[in-house]
Amino acid sequence: MLVKELKHIELNTEAIRKDFPILNRKINGMPLIYFDNGATSQKPQQVIDAVSNYYSNTNSNIHRGVHTLSREATEAFENARKVIAKHFNVKSDQQIIFTAGTTDSLNMVCNGLARSVLKQGDEIILSSYEHHSNILPWQLWAQENKGQLKVIPLNADQSLDLNAIENLISEKTKIISIAHVSNTLGLITDLDKIKIIAKKHNLILVVDAAQSAPHMAVDLEKLDVDFYVCSAHKIYGPTGTGILYMSEKWLSKLPVTKPGGGTIKTVSFEKTEYADGALRFEPGTPNISGVIGFAAAINYMDQFGMDAIYKHELELVNYAQSKLAEIPQVMLYGKSNDKAAVISFNVKNTHPFDVGTLLDKYGIAVRTGHHCTQPLMNLLCVPGTIRISFAIYNTKTEIDFFIEKLKKVIDMLK
Ligand code: ALA
Repeated sequence: MLVKELKHIELNTEAIRKDFPILNRKINGMPLIYFDNGATSQKPQQVIDAVSNYYSNTNSNIHRGVHTLSREATEAFENARKVIAKHFNVKSDQQIIFTAGTTDSLNMVCNGLARSVLKQGDEIILSSYEHHSNILPWQLWAQENKGQLKVIPLNADQSLDLNAIENLISEKTKIISIAHVSNTLGLITDLDKIKIIAKKHNLILVVDAAQSAPHMAVDLEKLDVDFYVCSAHKIYGPTGTGILYMSEKWLSKLPVTKPGGGTIKTVSFEKTEYADGALRFEPGTPNISGVIGFAAAINYMDQFGMDAIYKHELELVNYAQSKLAEIPQVMLYGKSNDKAAVISFNVKNTHPFDVGTLLDKYGIAVRTGHHCTQPLMNLLCVPGTIRISFAIYNTKTEIDFFIEKLKKVIDMLK
């Protein structure tokens, strides 16, 4: 995405920051600088109020009751589905299935395809920078079914070598399952190119959007992939909820792998007829408050627009990258001028945990470790990295403070 193509809406960060009560916190006597948004974002008062209001005024189980509270709760839950479908430009809100989050969604896709599409010995293509949650379900299936995972290699700059994909494909290849944005590097996968390859070879395309949905506009009608999954908690919403989007054809084709109350039309001891649409995949009592908070988070972002959010965060990424590049001891990974709001780096001759622990003393929250991407760490030949990841409320002033303190930390660890 080119910045010049984006609508010119400047975010009023000062006003936005007032919406996030946690930003008033002091950590070790210092104002909190929260750069761990890739792990989870902070929540605006609007989301906190939506969840609190649900429990204070509407709490009830959904889809089953005729009483007022149950009808109100059902309406709020189903309205959330509409809000989220509209945000992602999905034709039918029934294509939005509420899950426990990205990991749950990926497991559901994998288990469903394992029962319907995958045969012994089949192959699945992943990228080198997948999060463990987009490796493990496929790996479990492969281990039990003599299957194989084929991995798209990296170029020298840690971007994906898309030219290598054709060579990975055989007549046994059935699926490409890939991160839209690398949670460790922030690099954006060129889904248009991947889609052309997937369509040419009739492959199912699964997109892990955990790290793209918070940062960029996604039009699922236009994107036209088979499955697209993300979590609410990285998008200013509550933990424990997310979505599994599936294209229309899968809505009736994907087998139920998590049956339970609510997923059915009729049940007898001999036979069950499952519901049509989203409910088919939503067993048990869902995370009702979480889903309502999720919609509040989407409404919160939509008042600014995803283009404005992307532009703001890209400015932060480029600013921070250029400042980090000026520090001789810093090694940057996945450097690019057009990436989502994530930067990974290391400081020569130091352990990432030490840097992270000392930055915390200044109130700066960064993530350190393998970021659930151990195969990528192996390729980079490092045990872990320091990851900073931005959100709508972060500022260049915070980056300046972080850079100043990082230099101090580097001196301390000399
Ligand atoms: N998957 C989350 C991350 O990348 C936790 O930090």
